Amino acid sequence: MTNDGRKRTSNTSLLAWVDEIAAMCKPDGIHWCDGSQMEYDQLCEEMVQSGTFTRLNPHRRPNCFLARSHPSDVARVEERTFICSQKQEDAGPTNNWMEPEGMKQILRKNFSGCMRGRTLYIIPFSMGPLGSPVAQIGIQITDSPYVVVNMRIMTRMGQAVLDQLGSDFFIRCLHSVGAPLSPDQKDVPWPCEGNIGNKFISHFPETREIWSYGSGYGGNALLGKKCLALRIGSVMARDQGWLAEHMLILGLQSPDGKKTYVAAAFPSACGKTNLAMIVPPKELEGWKASTIGDDIAWVKPAPDNTLRAINPEAGFFGVAPGTSYDSNPIAMDTIKKNSIFTNVALTDDGDVWWEGMGPAPAHVIDWKGNDWTPGMDHPAAHPNSRFTAPASQCPTIDPAWEDPQGVPISAFIFGGRLSKSFPLVYESFDWKHGVFMAATMGSEATAAAIGQAAIRRDPFAMLPFAGYHMADYWQHWLNMETKGYRLPKIFRVNWFRKDADGKFIWPGYGQNMRAIKWIIDRVNGNASAEQTPIGQVPRYEDIVWAGLDFKPEKFRSVMDVERKDLLSEAQELTQFFRKFGNRLPAEMEKQRKAFQERVEKTM
Ligand code: GTP
Ligand code: SPV
Ligand code: MN
Repeated sequence: MTNDGRKRTSNTSLLAWVDEIAAMCKPDGIHWCDGSQMEYDQLCEEMVQSGTFTRLNPHRRPNCFLARSHPSDVARVEERTFICSQKQEDAGPTNNWMEPEGMKQILRKNFSGCMRGRTLYIIPFSMGPLGSPVAQIGIQITDSPYVVVNMRIMTRMGQAVLDQLGSDFFIRCLHSVGAPLSPDQKDVPWPCEGNIGNKFISHFPETREIWSYGSGYGGNALLGKKCLALRIGSVMARDQGWLAEHMLILGLQSPDGKKTYVAAAFPSACGKTNLAMIVPPKELEGWKASTIGDDIAWVKPAPDNTLRAINPEAGFFGVAPGTSYDSNPIAMDTIKKNSIFTNVALTDDGDVWWEGMGPAPAHVIDWKGNDWTPGMDHPAAHPNSRFTAPASQCPTIDPAWEDPQGVPISAFIFGGRLSKSFPLVYESFDWKHGVFMAATMGSEATAAAIGQAAIRRDPFAMLPFAGYHMADYWQHWLNMETKGYRLPKIFRVNWFRKDADGKFIWPGYGQNMRAIKWIIDRVNGNASAEQTPIGQVPRYEDIVWAGLDFKPEKFRSVMDVERKDLLSEAQELTQFFRKFGNRLPAEMEKQRKAFQERVEKTM
């Protein structure tokens, strides 16, 4: 076991931390990641040899790999995710909590000797452009080479980060798959802790630490993403007066050349990647869309009082099923090369396939490694199978996507997956009402997390990601209004209304641009709206319909809301708000009452 860290950094607290973790985890070797292409290629080759990776056909998918996870390790585990603040009330009713020292004791036991037979990798990474004043450096220690290569795509990673860090503070991110090897034990393609009760995705907000044990998948293991950029990030944002959000960032250029940026929050697997890469229909002539980010936005007040957003990530970890040249051609072009695919199907010619990509091949190997033919009773790709791809390969990436100052945001858009009751698009009356709209958002379950209820409130699409008390988070958003910022307008959208046969009424995808155009026009004072109890809504004639056969009657079926549904919503919110006790901002109940009264008086 060697630790040559002194050649890499003079950061004494980093060196001491690595020594301490190595002494606890007892790895066979230590590797400081330099982030080079050579290192990446070597690790990928080693994983091909060990069976973790399958190299895809270089003619079809150059420099791409397929990984199959263990069937028990396919998504985030929310019931094993903990916010270990000193006080339980600081984690709030929507987070699992454990007292920090108690959690550390359990974790130390789990981590003791957990890297036997494995290499300990040190991954220096920057969330945000390296050296940007808004970037944040983390160091992840992991025993998973799969995590290392994914982190190289998802973040700015390697020696340059250590050089930038100098002797400054960094966020400690400790990770193990939790599968030590005894001397004569053969490794498996996807090692992880098999017992769900032994998995821990733990956050220590006061000390800004992350300890993740037992899973190798996605947000459980790529600690820069949900753990740092959202859970710890939201705590830092609260303390420092900015916003860390589960939002895509999208640029829209109107035919007269004016560029408007919006940020949009949707729960997991509800269309952020699609909207971030939207292709406007050709009838909306002259409109151009560009991508800044597809999952996370750090939004900070700028000296000119605008709110400016950066994408802290450098890659996309996107849902594969449903991605096709019809639904998202930009993503399809982004993942042509240099990408990692996890839990998708393997075709006979060494390429990837998933449900919704196009016609099923006559035969594939499914995500569990078994033969699969069309018509079988299970999908070939796991519903939460994903691609990891460099953002720089995205054909519509915005020229400003790495601008350290970020882009000015003119609208915040919130959208859940709701098959009834909520309109296609509407605008809040003002900031406070917008916060109420976002805080009360509901959404139906997806495959992005294990064991979700069928429908749940997902405030700001942050339910699994807020690192502190949800009601305090709402207060933080309310406080933004009092600081003299040029605040974005707030909207809600819902692409997911269904008809009596259970079919989506709205065509979605590129056609969403029609609703987005109305939003941009509202922001720029170029569109009118009708005042309703729920908010400000477009009339049929406020939306451009050229090239889409969508009659006023159909429009009403995605816009109209029923009095009884709104009244029961107002009722349910009373229950929901009760959960937050005396931390609930008074403004939220005021908004709820006003909403109920508007419905009672005017509908
Ligand atoms: P995370 O990466 O999990 O945070 O989620 P995301 O919001 O980026 O998810 P993504 O964009 O990958 O969502 C994919 C799912 O949303 C697929 O099931 C798509 O079919 C569906 N989807 C995206 N846009 C639309 C739309 O406009 N209409 C409908 N009906 N479905 C959509
Ligand atoms: C999500 O679940 O919102 C994701 C995927 O973006 S993961 O990184 O696994 O959390
Ligand atoms: Mn996400």
